[in-house]
Amino acid sequence: MIPKLVRLSRSAPKDRPLAWDRYWAGIKATGAGGEVLWDAGTDTEFLGYQDVLLRHLDPALPVLDIGCGHGSFTRALAGIFPEAVGVDISAHAVRRAAAESQGLGNVRFEVRDMTSPGAGAGFDGGANVFIRGVLHVLDQAGQSALVQNLRLLAGDRGTVFLAETNFPGNPVEYVSHLGATPRSIPAPLERAIRGLPMPGRFGPQERAQLLSPAEWDLLEDGAIQIETNPATAVEGQGCVPGYYAVLRPRS
Ligand SMILES: C[S@@+](CC[C@H](N)C(=O)[O-])C[C@H]1O[C@@H](n2cnc3c(N)ncnc32)[C@H](O)[C@@H]1O
Repeated sequence: MIPKLVRLSRSAPKDRPLAWDRYWAGIKATGAGGEVLWDAGTDTEFLGYQDVLLRHLDPALPVLDIGCGHGSFTRALAGIFPEAVGVDISAHAVRRAAAESQGLGNVRFEVRDMTSPGAGAGFDGGANVFIRGVLHVLDQAGQSALVQNLRLLAGDRGTVFLAETNFPGNPVEYVSHLGATPRSIPAPLERAIRGLPMPGRFGPQERAQLLSPAEWDLLEDGAIQIETNPATAVEGQGCVPGYYAVLRPRS
């Protein structure tokens, strides 16, 4: 399987913003049976987060969904916060998210590279932040730059919730978990391998290094299951082991 994976992943653009925008430009269908690898098409995973969000995040503040993709989690967040703003580096993702959210009054989307200095501008009173599946796709410099922006975004009142995949194996074990065999690769997985940078993992160790206890209060964390597109699943493996954490910047 390794030569096949190497051959497929060779076509992914090295320029990450370009890779993400091309990926989203090619997506024709989201939701159950769609083409997006990390989209289960249900709200089950979000419902599992809801109590944690309500416990720690100020319900009077807006929430920013960083790396919102097609906006399914942004729309769910709009059900519990006064305003939900989805931001993504890909203009095609933002266009799709907006199109899928028509009729929802308290949701909007913007193109922002959240690793750029000042990318959180406009939320000066403090905002809550929701991040799912973004830190593990950034390189180290991108992660550090994003965390600088998280500090400014959260300010004195905001809180950060993150949920990331934390798969313990190597890339071959990871794609096998998602249904790849030497003979075939599920279409949503193949699309991601062909077009996107290889993801890493993000767990307690990575969190402690990136969001150090000297600068961030850890309010809660633990293991979760990140739901994936059911088209990729071998029996009982429609989820990837993941990690969540809730943090607030120390003042
Ligand atoms: C694995 S997807 C997760 C999408 C969404 N959070 C979800 O769970 O459905 C990662 C998303 O992060 C976006 N992204 C990658 N780098 C980014 C950056 N520097 N700033 C903002 N968004 C970024 C990608 O375009 C993509 O939509």
